[in-house]
Amino acid sequence: IKVEQVHRTGYHFQPKKHWINDPNGPMYYNGVYHLFYQYNPKGAVWGNIVWAHSVSTDLINWTPLEPAIFPSKPFDKYGCWSGSATVLPGNKPVILYTGIVDKNNTQVQNYAVPANLSDPYLRKWVKPDNNPLIVSEAGVNKTAFRDPTTAWLGRDGEWRILMGGRRKDTGIAFLYKSRDFMKWKKAANPIHQSAGTGNWECPDFYPVAKSGTNGLDTSVLGQNVKHALKVSLDATRFEYYTLGKYYPAEDRYVPDNTSPDNWKGLRYDYGNFYASKSFFDPSKNRRVLWGWANESDAAKDDIKKGWAGIQLIPRTITLDPIGKQLLQWPVKELDTLRGAHVRLSNQLLKKGDLVGVTGITPAQADVEVTFSFRSLDLAEPFDPKWKKLDAQDVCSKRGSFVQGGLGPFGLVTLATEDLQEYTPVFFRIFKDAGKHVVLMCSDATRSSLKKELYRPSFAGFVDVDLTDKKLSLRSLIDHSVVESFGAGGKTCISSRVYPTKAVSDKAHLYAFNNGTEAITVETLDAWSMKTAKVN
Ligand code: FRU
Repeated sequence: IKVEQVHRTGYHFQPKKHWINDPNGPMYYNGVYHLFYQYNPKGAVWGNIVWAHSVSTDLINWTPLEPAIFPSKPFDKYGCWSGSATVLPGNKPVILYTGIVDKNNTQVQNYAVPANLSDPYLRKWVKPDNNPLIVSEAGVNKTAFRDPTTAWLGRDGEWRILMGGRRKDTGIAFLYKSRDFMKWKKAANPIHQSAGTGNWECPDFYPVAKSGTNGLDTSVLGQNVKHALKVSLDATRFEYYTLGKYYPAEDRYVPDNTSPDNWKGLRYDYGNFYASKSFFDPSKNRRVLWGWANESDAAKDDIKKGWAGIQLIPRTITLDPIGKQLLQWPVKELDTLRGAHVRLSNQLLKKGDLVGVTGITPAQADVEVTFSFRSLDLAEPFDPKWKKLDAQDVCSKRGSFVQGGLGPFGLVTLATEDLQEYTPVFFRIFKDAGKHVVLMCSDATRSSLKKELYRPSFAGFVDVDLTDKKLSLRSLIDHSVVESFGAGGKTCISSRVYPTKAVSDKAHLYAFNNGTEAITVETLDAWSMKTAKVN
């Protein structure tokens, strides 16, 4: 069957065909970035999982290699699930991953090492016979014991890793320790757990500098760092993270009281973003985050188009100077894809205005915009009834065409001229007991005329100081994905959308305002994005 591939991405990572899920073992080694990922070599639905492998020198253009790890031994016969890479002293990479050993989904932790360290691409990996390294202890749920993290080294000479799991409805990050990376012992207590959150998948644990923007090696400890713990919630299919303090001597992590430690917690992304994993890039002193976005169409559509899943653009992570959350921003190498450019400056948007951005390719674009307004007076009151709701519910009640006071204003992406299809990304500002509440939405409700699609009105609140009366937004638009960064990366939202008419050169981009207060587009820069060489 020949399918018109209008929804394939031009610069987001995906293989030529078939199913992908979690990013695995990202690392930088001898000048090369490696990305492994969960992959079904036989089809566009989950199954037959191997570690596919691609390499890059810029995190944007990727060369595919043969799968690095695939079922072949008793300790991974039924699947090679997620895991992480650690570069050991002496510049020796090692991968830890979860092997599935039987039909009951029993999970063990294995290691693999490069067959030949002088191969610049580390194409072949071997799984030594002393695997598995770790099997679950009695009393631990064997089918919820997986996804080892990158290891960090304590001052006591012990390596440490986490695995995700659960006890009943309590999410758990198990801690294991080893001196030689081969013999691992479970610590007396999990490093952290949280009741009511269900099974934890793909934990990630790393230090962030309290000041400055440099990323840190996973083993950095001390007074100048906070730690971040991220978990992926199996039950709800979204992630949350906390910032907190790590007590290495006690093997404990304690979240700050500004980070809710449950499903209401801070998210890297309030949209379609899961099983994420970060790594430290020593060549640019940054921590880089990868996250997977699955499809929002039906499995039968994925089979028809022959592929499912993308990785979102890698993001640098830093601590927000306010200290209560992280900031994320697309890696700067993405800018090398910027082509044709247009700019709007000082464009006034009165209530109801919709201003077209022409001269670029709206279906494959990068847009950066700063909005300003003269006053906050017209911000609508925040309905007390919404206090119990999350941002997504508020956004579904107050879409882009529900007129407001201050906002909604923002971008309309992947739109037809008659707005039969459109995906707006926008802000709406409320006042609540003297404070302002900023809502950011990426609303797929009207993204497509096609039926049988998941079309959520993804949203998050933005913890931003409005004294300068400005809000910025960047959106990476790529055929079936809109990946947005509000207020310099404080709140990020990714949506997968499948327009039927607003495709390729039929797609349009607009700036809009549907609030009473006039909004000024101080600057709007939009670029056509070149197609990256991805696999
Ligand atoms: C997360 C996850 C991991 C597991 C892998 C299997 O999406 O379920 O917990 O290792 O995917 O493909």
